Amino acid sequence: MKLPLPEGFPTDVLVAEAPTDALLPETRWVLVGDESVREAWAEADLHEPNGSLWLRTSEATKRLESLVPLLEHWASIPLHRDAIIVAVGGGVLTDMAGLAASLYLRGLRWHAWPTTLLAQVDAGLGGKTAVNLAAGKNLAGAFHPPERLVACRSFLRTLPPRQLASGRWEMVKTAMLVGDVEWTEATLSQELPAAEFIQRTLQVKAEIVHRDPTERAERRLLNLGHTLGHALESASGYQLLHGEAVGLGLLAACFLAEDLGLPPFPVSLLRRLSKALKPLAPLVASWEECKPWLYRDKKALHGSLATAELHCILPLPGEWARQLALPPDAWANPHSRLLASLG
Ligand SMILES: NC(=O)c1ccc[n+]([C@@H]2O[C@H](COP(=O)([O-])OP(=O)(O)OC[C@H]3O[C@@H](n4cnc5c(N)ncnc54)[C@H](O)[C@@H]3O)[C@@H](O)[C@H]2O)c1
Repeated sequence: MKLPLPEGFPTDVLVAEAPTDALLPETRWVLVGDESVREAWAEADLHEPNGSLWLRTSEATKRLESLVPLLEHWASIPLHRDAIIVAVGGGVLTDMAGLAASLYLRGLRWHAWPTTLLAQVDAGLGGKTAVNLAAGKNLAGAFHPPERLVACRSFLRTLPPRQLASGRWEMVKTAMLVGDVEWTEATLSQELPAAEFIQRTLQVKAEIVHRDPTERAERRLLNLGHTLGHALESASGYQLLHGEAVGLGLLAACFLAEDLGLPPFPVSLLRRLSKALKPLAPLVASWEECKPWLYRDKKALHGSLATAELHCILPLPGEWARQLALPPDAWANPHSRLLASLG
């Protein structure tokens, strides 16, 4: 199924049950893939052109220096300007391959074939590509949208359950972002998400990104759950997976909205969120441990401790989330309520 996206959107988005050669580029291409899906690729009997590479990926190797061998390999083939890179893997692989594609010959076209749920509903779409620096995640990157995104549900069958659950939180985020309580509840109930839900999530992201490709305003809404979420993820020493931290951040954002007198989400939904998040309680850092990370947030409006303000996204039932600039300390009470609700 090809998503009906706004005219001029740079990426064709296809959601399919299983991969087929018909979804691959029609012209010359090479593959760069995540070693974890090599077997699934072979089992699906998909083409693998000469010059393809399978890489072991991890957040620790998502670094500029890992791009050099990839770029040198493409140059040694040599890969010409008209070639297309097909990036097959999780968000680490698609972020790295997308950035490498933006650098090689000052920009090659690329197709994203995300194989984790998180990458299918989030990382593969929107044009952000990046690697990590010592100072933080995704600090060196480029906007270089893929020409095509192919999300095949069958790849999710080999994904460890914890990774699947982690990706689901980005889908919950999207349902909460648009204020749809029913959609949020239905997403929480599905172990392996239905294709229709993957499509809906991608549709919302694509429309937001189309209106604000470089995150000047509306695109910040996609950071719902990420403000405290990033701090929790960092303060846990990355023991929390990204999506898990977002899930915790979503519940805290509901508490923050309530603190500010905004209409609350139904108590029954908040209970479901805390029940699903309870197993993560041992990984939730204290407020004192989280606070320094909030001040370092790359989306902070001002850097100094005295004047720091953060873009905070507040979910609202029945309507789209709202953005507010608030001091980091606004998260103290939601953090404490989060701990209490998981206790
Ligand atoms: N560009 C963006 O807009 C954006 C958005 C969100 C996240 N990200 C980035 O995405 C990354 C996280 O992505 P992720 O959660 O996909 O993690 P990941 O890429 O590390 O994948 C998770 C694990 O699953 C393995 N894997 C991948 N596909 C598999 C499959 N089908 N079956 C079995 N194992 C499989 C991987 O090898 C890895 O061990 C982070 O680096 C984050 O910064 C980018």
